[in-house]
Parts: sequence; structure tokens; C-alpha cells
Amino acid sequence: MRLNIAMDGPVGAGKSTVADAVARRLGILHLDTGAMYRALGLKALRTGTDTGNEQAVTALCRGLDLDVRYSEGGQVTLLDGEDVSALIRTQEVGMAASDVSRFSEVRKMMVRRQQELAAATDMLVDGRDICTTVLPNAPVKVYLTASSEERARRRWAEMRQKGLPDTYEEVLKAVVDRDRQDMNRKVEPLRQAEDAVLVDSTDMTFDQVVEAIVKLAEEKIHGESGK
Ligand code: DC
Repeated sequence: MRLNIAMDGPVGAGKSTVADAVARRLGILHLDTGAMYRALGLKALRTGTDTGNEQAVTALCRGLDLDVRYSEGGQVTLLDGEDVSALIRTQEVGMAASDVSRFSEVRKMMVRRQQELAAATDMLVDGRDICTTVLPNAPVKVYLTASSEERARRRWAEMRQKGLPDTYEEVLKAVVDRDRQDMNRKVEPLRQAEDAVLVDSTDMTFDQVVEAIVKLAEEKIHGESGK
């Protein structure tokens, strides 16, 4: 059986770093689906495409030259053949990604690509609709969250380390705004799948979160092979 781990959660829950660590521990790849929407967001910004214009964004997505590769360091996201893995990490591109991810044709195209990638390899896939739509039959499903204040605090600490000037209040507002947009969009809003295990990391350390998810996966792997 293909080992697919599906992981969803709101912005700033630490999904990407946790997912990376869990995938490494299990010796499988990690697909960060947010990077795919971010690449489309970046393309829209670069081409001056209005991220609120459904027709224009859908056309842009249809012709998108997007590729996901893997290197020693993990996922490499290529847009028009260029490695944009670092460029897509800004708040501006994050908001553009959230904007373009509201459109149903865009989601269909992205979901199809993600399903193809996950069908080919054992991987942990993280995003917003993985448990509910992309991999509804994944053997392990996790919803990783934390309080909005804690998520903002972590993000703010990270940004301060990078020397970015945003205040805690600004970061908290960005977290709350993005939650509102991701949870209230018409097409496949972010929500916890009924059969996903809730991991609330508000009062957990990074290592505890990784350990909890590795344990869930191992129980599943050993449970299946013991049958
Ligand atoms: O996880 P992230 O911050 O990199 O995601 C950027 C945006 O992309 C997020 O605000 C919503 C969207 N997204 C989505 O709609 N579905 C996914 N599976 C992943 C991300």
C-alpha cells in the first residue's frame, strides 16, 4: 500500500517544518502544496494579473510552467524553469496565493497534479484540503493547528530573526485575515476532516509534535503489516 500522509491546518501552525521533519524520519518525500499555489500567486504578481480576476487567473494557471523536484534539501519549486523556492516565501506572495486558490478551476488543476505526484511515491502531503479532497483515502490524516495568538507569536519570532520590521499586532492581523479567507472561501474551505486526528500544538514543543505524528504513522504501518 502507498504510504500517503495527509496533513492540513491553518497558516502558521508549523505544518511545513513539522511535515519536513516527519517525512525525513519516515524516509518519505514531503509535498508542500502551498508552494504550488504560491508559484501561481508569484506568476500573477509578475505578470500584473489581477488576483481577483477568476478568468485571467484560471487562464494563467492553465498555461503555468510549474514543476516540483526534489534535492538533498527537500522540495524545489520551479516556475518557468526558475527555482522560486525562496522567492515565494514573502507575505505578499502568501496573500496572492490565498487569493488565487479561491477559484474552482485552479483548485481542480492543482488537485489533479498533487494526486498524480502522491500516487507515484510514498509522501507526506501538506496543505488545506489534503485530507478532505486531495487524498481522502490516505491511511494517515492529521489536522495540525494552534491558537491564532500562538501561531502569530511563532511567525513574529521567525520574522524578527530575519530582521523583518512587522509588529506582533500586524502579524496577528495577517494570520486572522488569512484564516478568515481560507476558511470562508466557497470552494473547498479549510476545515478539519471528520476522520483526521487533531494535533493542537499550542502547548507542545516542535519535537513533541513531530513525535506524535510519527507515532500515528508508525501505528498505521505496523497495524497494516500485522494484519
Ligand atoms: O501553506 P501556505 O501558506 O504556503 O499556502 C498559501 C495559500 O495557498 C493559502 O493561504 C491557501 C492556499 N492553499 C490552498 O488553498 N490549498 C492547499 N492545499 C495549500 C495552500
